[in-house]
Amino acid sequence: MDIAPGELVMFLGPSGCGKTTTMKMINRLIEPTSGHILIDGQDVLRIDRNELRRSIGYVIQQIGLFPHMTIGDNIGLIPRLLGWKATKIAGRIDELLELVGLDPSAYRGRYPRQLSGGQQQRVGVARALAADPPIMLMDEPFGATDPITREHLQNEFLKLQKELRKTIIFVTHDFDEAIRLGDRIAVLRERSVIAQFDTPERILSAPADDYVASFVGSGAAIRRMGLTTVGDAIHQGVLDRALPDGSTDGIVVRCEDTIRDAIDAMLRGGSAHVTVHDAAGHPLGSLDFERVCELWARAGQVNDSHVR
Ligand SMILES: Nc1ncnc2c1ncn2[C@@H]1O[C@H](COP(=O)(O)OP(=O)(O)OP(=O)(O)O)[C@@H](O)[C@H]1O
Ligand SMILES: [Mg+2]
Repeated sequence: MDIAPGELVMFLGPSGCGKTTTMKMINRLIEPTSGHILIDGQDVLRIDRNELRRSIGYVIQQIGLFPHMTIGDNIGLIPRLLGWKATKIAGRIDELLELVGLDPSAYRGRYPRQLSGGQQQRVGVARALAADPPIMLMDEPFGATDPITREHLQNEFLKLQKELRKTIIFVTHDFDEAIRLGDRIAVLRERSVIAQFDTPERILSAPADDYVASFVGSGAAIRRMGLTTVGDAIHQGVLDRALPDGSTDGIVVRCEDTIRDAIDAMLRGGSAHVTVHDAAGHPLGSLDFERVCELWARAGQVNDSHVR
Protein backbone atom coordinates (compact mmCIF):
# COMPACT_ATOMS: atom_id res chain seq x y z
CA MET A 1 0.00 0.00 0.00
CA ASP A 2 1.33 3.43 -1.00
CA ILE A 3 -0.12 6.56 0.51
CA ALA A 4 0.64 9.92 -1.09
CA PRO A 5 1.48 13.01 0.98
CA GLY A 6 -1.69 14.92 1.87
CA GLU A 7 -3.92 11.94 1.18
CA LEU A 8 -6.79 10.89 3.47
CA VAL A 9 -7.03 7.10 3.51
CA MET A 10 -9.82 5.27 5.29
CA PHE A 11 -9.34 1.80 6.81
CA LEU A 12 -12.58 -0.12 6.80
CA GLY A 13 -12.83 -3.67 8.10
CA PRO A 14 -14.54 -5.91 10.65
CA SER A 15 -13.73 -5.85 14.35
CA GLY A 16 -10.50 -7.70 15.08
CA CYS A 17 -9.18 -7.63 11.51
CA GLY A 18 -6.05 -5.70 12.52
CA LYS A 19 -6.75 -2.00 11.90
CA THR A 20 -5.46 -0.78 15.26
CA THR A 21 -2.50 -3.16 15.06
CA THR A 22 -1.57 -1.71 11.65
CA MET A 23 -1.74 1.83 13.06
CA LYS A 24 0.45 0.85 15.99
CA MET A 25 3.04 -0.60 13.65
CA ILE A 26 3.26 2.70 11.81
CA ASN A 27 4.28 4.62 14.94
CA ARG A 28 6.16 1.64 16.43
CA LEU A 29 3.97 0.95 19.43
CA ILE A 30 4.17 -2.56 17.94
CA GLU A 31 7.10 -3.62 15.78
CA PRO A 32 6.47 -5.67 12.66
CA THR A 33 8.02 -9.16 12.65
CA SER A 34 8.28 -9.03 8.87
CA GLY A 35 7.73 -6.54 6.09
CA HIS A 36 8.54 -2.84 6.08
CA ILE A 37 6.81 0.43 6.73
CA LEU A 38 8.52 3.38 5.05
CA ILE A 39 7.92 7.07 5.67
CA ASP A 40 9.53 9.30 3.04
CA GLY A 41 11.53 6.25 1.99
CA GLN A 42 12.89 5.57 5.47
CA ASP A 43 12.08 2.39 7.40
CA VAL A 44 10.26 3.37 10.60
CA LEU A 45 12.44 0.89 12.52
CA ARG A 46 15.42 3.14 11.69
CA ILE A 47 13.75 6.37 12.77
CA ASP A 48 14.27 7.44 16.38
CA ARG A 49 11.19 6.33 18.28
CA ASN A 50 10.51 9.71 19.89
CA GLU A 51 11.12 11.67 16.74
CA LEU A 52 8.79 9.30 14.89
CA ARG A 53 5.97 9.75 17.38
CA ARG A 54 6.35 13.52 17.37
CA SER A 55 5.83 13.60 13.62
CA ILE A 56 2.72 11.41 13.86
CA GLY A 57 -0.43 12.58 15.63
CA TYR A 58 -2.29 9.60 17.06
CA VAL A 59 -5.94 9.64 18.08
CA ILE A 60 -6.33 6.35 19.93
CA GLN A 61 -9.50 4.30 19.84
CA GLN A 62 -10.25 4.55 23.57
CA ILE A 63 -9.63 8.33 23.67
CA GLY A 64 -6.91 7.97 26.33
CA LEU A 65 -7.02 11.36 28.00
CA PHE A 66 -5.10 11.57 31.29
CA PRO A 67 -7.82 11.73 33.96
CA HIS A 68 -5.78 13.73 36.47
CA MET A 69 -4.95 16.47 33.94
CA THR A 70 -7.25 19.25 32.78
CA ILE A 71 -8.44 19.32 29.18
CA GLY A 72 -5.99 22.14 28.50
CA ASP A 73 -3.05 20.22 29.95
CA ASN A 74 -4.02 17.12 27.99
CA ILE A 75 -4.00 19.08 24.73
CA GLY A 76 -0.77 20.90 25.60
CA LEU A 77 1.08 17.70 26.48
CA ILE A 78 3.23 17.28 23.36
CA PRO A 79 3.97 21.01 22.93
CA ARG A 80 5.15 20.99 26.56
CA LEU A 81 7.39 17.99 25.91
CA LEU A 82 8.75 19.86 22.90
CA GLY A 83 9.61 22.82 25.14
CA TRP A 84 7.25 25.41 23.71
CA LYS A 85 6.82 28.67 25.70
CA ALA A 86 3.84 28.67 28.07
CA THR A 87 2.08 31.54 26.27
CA LYS A 88 2.42 29.77 22.92
CA ILE A 89 1.02 26.55 24.43
CA ALA A 90 -1.93 28.40 25.99
CA GLY A 91 -2.71 30.05 22.66
CA ARG A 92 -2.53 26.72 20.84
CA ILE A 93 -4.84 25.03 23.38
CA ASP A 94 -7.53 27.67 22.89
CA GLU A 95 -7.13 27.62 19.12
CA LEU A 96 -7.59 23.83 19.04
CA LEU A 97 -10.57 23.84 21.42
CA GLU A 98 -12.28 26.38 19.15
CA LEU A 99 -11.45 24.18 16.21
CA VAL A 100 -13.20 21.12 17.66
CA GLY A 101 -16.18 23.20 18.76
CA LEU A 102 -15.57 23.40 22.51
CA ASP A 103 -15.63 26.84 24.14
CA PRO A 104 -12.09 27.31 25.53
CA SER A 105 -13.15 29.34 28.57
CA ALA A 106 -15.66 26.68 29.58
CA TYR A 107 -13.59 23.57 28.85
CA ARG A 108 -9.87 24.22 29.21
CA GLY A 109 -9.97 23.95 33.01
CA ARG A 110 -12.26 20.92 33.24
CA TYR A 111 -11.22 17.31 33.77
CA PRO A 112 -11.98 14.53 31.28
CA ARG A 113 -14.62 12.91 33.53
CA GLN A 114 -16.60 16.18 33.34
CA LEU A 115 -17.01 15.78 29.57
CA SER A 116 -19.26 13.48 27.57
CA GLY A 117 -17.70 10.63 25.59
CA GLY A 118 -18.05 12.53 22.30
CA GLN A 119 -16.54 15.69 23.79
CA GLN A 120 -13.61 13.67 25.10
CA GLN A 121 -13.12 12.30 21.63
CA ARG A 122 -12.94 15.81 20.24
CA VAL A 123 -10.30 16.66 22.83
CA GLY A 124 -8.41 13.56 21.65
CA VAL A 125 -8.44 14.95 18.10
CA ALA A 126 -7.27 18.37 19.35
CA ARG A 127 -4.44 16.75 21.30
CA ALA A 128 -3.24 14.81 18.25
CA LEU A 129 -3.16 18.04 16.22
CA ALA A 130 -1.36 20.05 18.91
CA ALA A 131 2.18 19.98 17.54
CA ASP A 132 0.96 20.15 13.93
CA PRO A 133 2.38 16.77 12.84
CA PRO A 134 2.42 16.07 9.09
CA ILE A 135 0.95 12.57 9.60
CA MET A 136 -2.17 11.67 11.56
CA LEU A 137 -3.38 8.23 12.61
CA MET A 138 -7.00 8.45 13.70
CA ASP A 139 -8.60 5.34 15.17
CA GLU A 140 -12.38 5.79 15.05
CA PRO A 141 -12.09 9.41 16.22
CA PHE A 142 -15.82 10.13 15.95
CA GLY A 143 -17.03 6.69 17.06
CA ALA A 144 -18.64 7.87 20.30
CA THR A 145 -20.68 10.73 18.84
CA ASP A 146 -24.32 10.88 17.80
CA PRO A 147 -25.16 11.16 14.07
CA ILE A 148 -25.74 14.93 14.17
CA THR A 149 -22.53 15.77 16.02
CA ARG A 150 -20.72 13.28 13.86
CA GLU A 151 -21.87 14.94 10.66
CA HIS A 152 -20.84 18.32 12.05
CA LEU A 153 -17.41 16.98 13.01
CA GLN A 154 -16.99 15.33 9.60
CA ASN A 155 -17.74 18.63 7.85
CA GLU A 156 -15.33 20.53 10.07
CA PHE A 157 -12.74 17.84 9.60
CA LEU A 158 -13.05 18.00 5.79
CA LYS A 159 -12.74 21.80 5.84
CA LEU A 160 -9.69 21.54 8.05
CA GLN A 161 -8.08 18.88 5.87
CA LYS A 162 -8.57 21.04 2.76
CA GLU A 163 -6.41 23.64 4.46
CA LEU A 164 -3.90 21.46 6.29
CA ARG A 165 -3.45 18.66 3.73
CA LYS A 166 -2.09 16.23 6.28
CA THR A 167 -1.39 12.63 5.43
CA ILE A 168 -4.07 10.77 7.34
CA ILE A 169 -5.06 7.20 8.05
CA PHE A 170 -8.54 7.16 9.49
CA VAL A 171 -10.17 3.99 10.84
CA THR A 172 -13.92 3.66 10.77
CA HIS A 173 -16.66 1.04 10.98
CA ASP A 174 -19.06 3.41 9.31
CA PHE A 175 -19.19 2.83 5.57
CA ASP A 176 -20.89 6.16 4.89
CA GLU A 177 -18.17 7.94 6.85
CA ALA A 178 -15.55 6.19 4.72
CA ILE A 179 -17.30 7.25 1.50
CA ARG A 180 -17.80 10.79 2.68
CA LEU A 181 -14.31 11.54 3.97
CA GLY A 182 -11.88 9.30 2.13
CA ASP A 183 -9.75 10.19 -0.88
CA ARG A 184 -9.25 6.43 -0.98
CA ILE A 185 -10.60 3.54 1.07
CA ALA A 186 -8.77 0.37 2.04
CA VAL A 187 -11.27 -2.41 2.67
CA LEU A 188 -9.48 -4.90 4.91
CA ARG A 189 -10.01 -8.58 5.63
CA GLU A 190 -8.76 -10.62 8.57
CA ARG A 191 -5.08 -9.96 9.32
CA SER A 192 -5.31 -6.64 7.51
CA VAL A 193 -5.17 -8.25 4.08
CA ILE A 194 -6.21 -5.59 1.59
CA ALA A 195 -9.37 -6.64 -0.24
CA GLN A 196 -9.54 -3.41 -2.25
CA PHE A 197 -7.73 -0.08 -2.09
CA ASP A 198 -9.53 2.40 -4.26
CA THR A 199 -11.50 5.64 -4.52
CA PRO A 200 -14.99 5.77 -2.94
CA GLU A 201 -16.46 6.06 -6.43
CA ARG A 202 -14.72 2.84 -7.56
CA ILE A 203 -15.52 0.92 -4.37
CA LEU A 204 -19.20 1.74 -4.88
CA SER A 205 -19.38 1.13 -8.61
CA ALA A 206 -16.84 -1.69 -8.97
CA PRO A 207 -16.36 -3.67 -5.75
CA ALA A 208 -13.46 -6.10 -6.28
CA ASP A 209 -15.30 -9.16 -4.94
CA ASP A 210 -18.25 -10.33 -2.86
CA TYR A 211 -16.48 -9.45 0.37
CA VAL A 212 -16.15 -5.78 -0.62
CA ALA A 213 -19.66 -5.84 -2.05
CA SER A 214 -20.95 -6.98 1.35
CA PHE A 215 -19.56 -3.76 2.88
CA VAL A 216 -21.14 -1.66 0.20
CA GLY A 217 -24.44 -3.38 0.87
CA SER A 218 -27.60 -2.15 -0.78
CA GLY A 219 -28.10 1.38 -1.95
CA ALA A 220 -24.77 1.72 -3.80
CA ALA A 221 -26.34 3.72 -6.64
CA ILE A 222 -27.93 6.15 -4.22
CA ARG A 223 -24.70 6.54 -2.26
CA ARG A 224 -22.86 7.22 -5.49
CA MET A 225 -25.39 10.00 -6.13
CA GLY A 226 -24.09 11.64 -2.98
CA LEU A 227 -20.59 11.76 -4.50
CA THR A 228 -21.57 13.35 -7.81
CA THR A 229 -22.44 17.04 -7.99
CA VAL A 230 -25.04 18.56 -10.26
CA GLY A 231 -22.11 20.35 -11.93
CA ASP A 232 -20.46 16.98 -12.74
CA ALA A 233 -23.70 15.65 -14.18
CA ILE A 234 -24.06 18.76 -16.36
CA HIS A 235 -20.65 18.00 -17.90
CA GLN A 236 -22.10 14.65 -18.92
CA GLY A 237 -24.76 16.41 -20.95
CA VAL A 238 -27.72 15.90 -18.67
CA LEU A 239 -28.74 19.59 -18.49
CA ASP A 240 -31.73 20.81 -20.46
CA ARG A 241 -30.89 24.39 -21.51
CA ALA A 242 -34.51 25.37 -21.87
CA LEU A 243 -35.89 26.61 -18.58
CA PRO A 244 -39.25 25.19 -17.56
CA ASP A 245 -42.15 27.64 -17.51
CA GLY A 246 -42.37 29.60 -14.30
CA SER A 247 -38.86 28.46 -13.44
CA THR A 248 -38.35 31.45 -11.16
CA ASP A 249 -40.62 29.94 -8.54
CA GLY A 250 -39.73 26.30 -9.23
CA ILE A 251 -37.37 24.12 -7.18
CA VAL A 252 -33.79 25.32 -7.36
CA VAL A 253 -30.56 23.39 -6.89
CA ARG A 254 -27.03 24.72 -7.25
CA CYS A 255 -24.14 23.26 -9.24
CA GLU A 256 -22.29 22.31 -6.06
CA ASP A 257 -25.27 20.34 -4.71
CA THR A 258 -25.12 16.59 -5.20
CA ILE A 259 -27.36 14.59 -7.49
CA ARG A 260 -28.72 13.03 -4.34
CA ASP A 261 -29.76 16.52 -3.13
CA ALA A 262 -31.38 17.20 -6.51
CA ILE A 263 -33.39 13.96 -6.48
CA ASP A 264 -34.34 14.64 -2.87
CA ALA A 265 -35.58 18.14 -3.82
CA MET A 266 -37.65 16.63 -6.64
CA LEU A 267 -39.22 14.05 -4.34
CA ARG A 268 -39.99 16.58 -1.63
CA GLY A 269 -41.37 19.10 -4.10
CA GLY A 270 -43.38 16.50 -6.01
CA SER A 271 -41.85 17.66 -9.30
CA ALA A 272 -39.89 15.84 -11.99
CA HIS A 273 -37.81 18.96 -12.76
CA VAL A 274 -35.48 21.24 -10.89
CA THR A 275 -33.91 24.49 -12.05
CA VAL A 276 -30.11 24.60 -11.81
CA HIS A 277 -28.40 27.81 -10.69
CA ASP A 278 -24.69 28.57 -10.94
CA ALA A 279 -22.68 29.83 -7.96
CA ALA A 280 -23.76 33.44 -8.72
CA GLY A 281 -27.44 32.43 -8.66
CA HIS A 282 -28.05 32.62 -12.43
CA PRO A 283 -30.32 29.93 -13.90
CA LEU A 284 -28.44 27.59 -16.24
CA GLY A 285 -31.20 25.23 -17.29
CA SER A 286 -33.16 22.39 -15.79
CA LEU A 287 -32.64 18.79 -14.71
CA ASP A 288 -35.21 16.19 -15.51
CA PHE A 289 -35.75 13.12 -13.32
CA GLU A 290 -35.91 10.69 -16.25
CA ARG A 291 -32.69 11.98 -17.80
CA VAL A 292 -30.83 11.78 -14.50
CA CYS A 293 -31.98 8.17 -14.12
CA GLU A 294 -30.84 7.35 -17.67
CA LEU A 295 -27.44 8.91 -17.02
CA TRP A 296 -27.20 6.95 -13.81
CA ALA A 297 -28.07 3.63 -15.38
CA ARG A 298 -25.52 4.28 -18.14
CA ALA A 299 -22.77 5.26 -15.70
CA GLY A 300 -23.50 2.16 -13.60
CA GLN A 301 -23.16 -0.12 -16.65
CA VAL A 302 -19.92 1.53 -17.75
CA ASN A 303 -18.49 1.02 -14.30
CA ASP A 304 -19.77 -2.54 -14.01
CA SER A 305 -18.10 -3.48 -17.26
CA HIS A 306 -14.74 -2.52 -15.72
CA VAL A 307 -15.08 -5.29 -13.14
CA ARG A 308 -15.95 -8.04 -15.54
N1 LIG B 1 -1.86 -7.29 22.68
C1 LIG B 1 -2.38 -8.27 21.93
N2 LIG B 1 -1.98 -9.54 22.09
C2 LIG B 1 -2.48 -10.53 21.36
N3 LIG B 1 -3.43 -10.35 20.43
C3 LIG B 1 -3.88 -9.12 20.23
C4 LIG B 1 -3.38 -8.00 20.97
N4 LIG B 1 -4.03 -6.89 20.54
C5 LIG B 1 -4.87 -7.28 19.58
N5 LIG B 1 -4.79 -8.62 19.39
C6 LIG B 1 -5.55 -9.42 18.41
O1 LIG B 1 -5.15 -9.02 17.11
C7 LIG B 1 -6.26 -8.96 16.24
C8 LIG B 1 -6.36 -7.57 15.64
O2 LIG B 1 -6.67 -6.63 16.65
P1 LIG B 1 -6.88 -5.09 16.36
O3 LIG B 1 -6.99 -4.39 17.67
O4 LIG B 1 -5.84 -4.61 15.42
O5 LIG B 1 -8.29 -5.12 15.62
P2 LIG B 1 -9.16 -3.92 15.00
O6 LIG B 1 -9.27 -4.18 13.53
O7 LIG B 1 -8.62 -2.61 15.42
O8 LIG B 1 -10.59 -4.18 15.65
P3 LIG B 1 -11.70 -3.16 16.21
O9 LIG B 1 -12.45 -2.70 15.01
O10 LIG B 1 -12.54 -4.02 17.09
O11 LIG B 1 -11.01 -2.07 16.94
C9 LIG B 1 -7.46 -9.37 17.09
O12 LIG B 1 -7.75 -10.71 16.82
C10 LIG B 1 -7.01 -9.16 18.51
O13 LIG B 1 -7.67 -10.02 19.37
MG1 LIG C 1 -9.29 -1.16 16.67
